[in-house]
Amino acid sequence: MRVLVTGANGMLGRDLVPVLAAAGHETAGATRAAFDVTDRDETLRAIGEAAPDLVVHAAAYTRVDDAEREPEKAFAVNHGGTRNVADACGMRGARLLYVSTDYVFDGTVRTPYREADPTNPLSVYARSKRMGEREVERLGNDGLIVRTSWLYGPHGPNFVEAILRQARERGRLTVVNDQEGAPTYTADLAEAIVVLLDHGAGGKVHFSGAGSCTWFEFAREIVSQAGMSRLGGIEVLPVTSESRGRPAPRPAYSVLCLDRYVSLTARRPPEWKEALGRYLERRGCAALKPDNRHKEVGIS
Ligand SMILES: NC(=O)c1ccc[n+]([C@@H]2O[C@H](COP(=O)([O-])OP(=O)(O)OC[C@H]3O[C@@H](n4cnc5c(N)ncnc54)[C@H](OP(=O)(O)O)[C@@H]3O)[C@@H](O)[C@H]2O)c1
Repeated sequence: MRVLVTGANGMLGRDLVPVLAAAGHETAGATRAAFDVTDRDETLRAIGEAAPDLVVHAAAYTRVDDAEREPEKAFAVNHGGTRNVADACGMRGARLLYVSTDYVFDGTVRTPYREADPTNPLSVYARSKRMGEREVERLGNDGLIVRTSWLYGPHGPNFVEAILRQARERGRLTVVNDQEGAPTYTADLAEAIVVLLDHGAGGKVHFSGAGSCTWFEFAREIVSQAGMSRLGGIEVLPVTSESRGRPAPRPAYSVLCLDRYVSLTARRPPEWKEALGRYLERRGCAALKPDNRHKEVGIS
């Protein structure tokens, strides 16, 4: 299949392009420099020229807090940009896979969200992504919406790196303990996307790491698996979201139900703790020797 990936320079895109290519797809990655999805003419032209059978639309405005003060930019990319990509796909008869987010839900329940559950996005970012979903829904069976959550990977700033950096620099971390979700490793999501394409999936599918945790529990696991907690001196303390005062509200609970993914593909998503271990190993962290661990956290 000829596949075009938007957002190819992003955290997910940079893992996704090689994984699609390794699966035998003729894959091209489009960065913002190739075409800006908010430019309708440019988007229609570029997708027309690339003549893909399928577009994986991973480009997005992803700065959740910044979106609160520049909503027009977030909507221009996540809604308007997705409309342009969807129209280009519609004109060519190409399929469209749109990467969306757990934040389309409001978190007022305590059981994992199913694909058909009602959405109620709380923030500008989440509303703009939900509007993007609606543009993909217009394509009917030619559209696939893959919702995921709490992404981290080697090609972008992410929570794991932030925690490791803070642990090194400060030794004392405060992390919110009243939002529950599921961390997802970009490499696993990239594999899942390939598998979903192989199975010709349509509609909406949820994919994340299996299991769930709060950000605080995630942080504690990062510090532990990186070998930092054994040194002592690294404190991870739970705090409330309110105490953080971040501009964008987040759902208190956004765990995604993975049953549809499992029944479509007969595969189980990897457990989030196991996936974290593979990520740390890939970045060379789990292999820290005792002496290096001391250096890593700045304790002498
Ligand atoms: N990160 C998460 O925790 C998370 C969770 C759930 C869902 N998602 C979704 O997963 C997808 C991938 O996320 P990510 O974390 O990989 O995002 P990312 O690292 O921020 O990458 C997004 C990419 O989109 C590109 N882009 C932004 N505006 C564009 C425009 N107007 N035209 C063309 N390209 C544009 C960016 O280009 P530049 O590099 O030039 O800025 C960037 O390379 C997104 O759809 C996001 O909404 C992410």
